[in-house]
Amino acid sequence: SNRTPLMAGNWKMNLDHLEANHLVQGLAMELKDAGHDFAKCEAVVIPPFTDLRTVQTVVDADDLEIKYGAQDVSIHDNGAYTGEISTAMLTKLGCSYVVMGHSERREYHNESDELVGAKARKALDAGMTPILCCGEALEIRKAGTHVEFVLGQIRAALKGWSAEDVARIVIAYEPIWAIGTGETATAADAQEVCGAIRAALREDFGEATAEATRVLYGGSAKPGNIVELMAQPDIDGALIGGASLKADSFAAMCRFY
Ligand code: G3H
Repeated sequence: SNRTPLMAGNWKMNLDHLEANHLVQGLAMELKDAGHDFAKCEAVVIPPFTDLRTVQTVVDADDLEIKYGAQDVSIHDNGAYTGEISTAMLTKLGCSYVVMGHSERREYHNESDELVGAKARKALDAGMTPILCCGEALEIRKAGTHVEFVLGQIRAALKGWSAEDVARIVIAYEPIWAIGTGETATAADAQEVCGAIRAALREDFGEATAEATRVLYGGSAKPGNIVELMAQPDIDGALIGGASLKADSFAAMCRFY
């Protein structure tokens, strides 16, 4: 395919700004030493908001090709929204990606598909690439309704979108039972859902959009399983939690090719 593979490291609520500095420097060194080709795989880190300025400083100082983004964003432009962060604040710090709809935010902050879709819209309008997360809980997987559940999440979030805009986003499929549990979905399980997502994009938005939109897998992705995951036709990369907190493992995953 013409889709550039993407490894996105979601640090979640880990690493202070000193540790962030250390990790990005370490990652840059690992990738440089290995002669990493960023055209073959994009490397993106998604730190907590409080680390973004530090990451920007490191990336700018050495003109690194590593990209970065935020774990969430407000749907408001500015004003009386205590605790929230706007798209303008993120773009001024050089963010090129924003994650939304992660299962942890859906669960602990009651985020709906409609809100997640509005956040994606906001990020795209500000010139950033949304990473729209979806994924089913274990009970849904056991009931065998995981594909329709995930397609429902995506269709609700992208309701009314143009084919051109959908082609500019990234979708991350993360089965909740595989997040942080060490239990990765098999490559075949991950492909089943990622393939169904692409088929739904084709049906709703046409062939060009289905071919352009990147679909990532997330959930205990690590150096030991990334090659098999990336061999699947509809998996274009990974959203990586635990394994992105160490420079060597994240760099190894960027170098799956
Ligand atoms: O956003 C990342 C995912 O939630 C996966 O986390 O790689 O620690 O399972 P994990």
